Amino acid sequence: MSLRAQIKAWRKTEQTIAIVPTMGNLHAGHLSLIKKAQTLADKVVVSIFVNPLQFDDQQDLHKYPRTLAADSEKLMQAGCDLLFTPDTALMYPQSIALQSVVHVPGMDDKLCGAQRPGHFDGVATVVTKLFNMVQPDLAVFGEKDYQQLLLVRKLVSDLNLPVKIVGAPTIREASDLAMSSRNQHLTATEKQQAAQLYASLQWLKQQLEAGEYDVNALLKQTRSQLTSSGFTVDYVAICRAEDLQAANPPEDKNLRLLAAGRLGSVRLIDNIGCSLA
Ligand code: PAF
Repeated sequence: MSLRAQIKAWRKTEQTIAIVPTMGNLHAGHLSLIKKAQTLADKVVVSIFVNPLQFDDQQDLHKYPRTLAADSEKLMQAGCDLLFTPDTALMYPQSIALQSVVHVPGMDDKLCGAQRPGHFDGVATVVTKLFNMVQPDLAVFGEKDYQQLLLVRKLVSDLNLPVKIVGAPTIREASDLAMSSRNQHLTATEKQQAAQLYASLQWLKQQLEAGEYDVNALLKQTRSQLTSSGFTVDYVAICRAEDLQAANPPEDKNLRLLAAGRLGSVRLIDNIGCSLA
């Protein structure tokens, strides 16, 4: 049955539909998003599409692991109701150069957006297309990509898309390293070093919660912890959780602490929440 026909049949029987958009190479983090979607909707659609529009680095695009057979198996076991695997010709029939693009201002020019030009336009565009194709009631996105989650929330609000956006907590390995398909590119030594990303964010949170509000000093110390552990730091930031503007604690109380850095050629990101009393 085609995607449209299946969606129509579900709608006819008044079943609610969730989508979990992915780029495949599924791990426990993705499976937790699917589990969450299953608690919120009658039917869960998972999309797998390695979206060329969101890769600023062509090497990264080519290197991206494509593991459809293993992914399908995992999705069957997870009870996914429909797997949607469009190809580039279906998503961008007119060529990528001629594709209309969705731009979400204010959310794409900082943090990962500043490091990866065009990345968030690519995400916003593909997510809009997936929403239009699948017409879900809700969509689940991981907090691991916190900036992406806020971007999608702003996108649906700005464009009045009738899709509820649900965030789901980051799933971590035993070392507390956030699950990511990039982790498999780390050597054994780098994997040990990688655990420092979360440890440094936790340290930062403890300092803030203990009443240390000298943002510049805190950021400097966090960066130096990461550098000492082998990271080339892209950014460390203390932001307002609601819009990712630079925070001014303790006036701003609802914070998100974010960091990104490279170990060898592997770029890792992580973030945690922090609420000041
Ligand atoms: O988070 C991802 O895997 C991707 O950015 C997404 C949301 C599937 C869009 O391609």
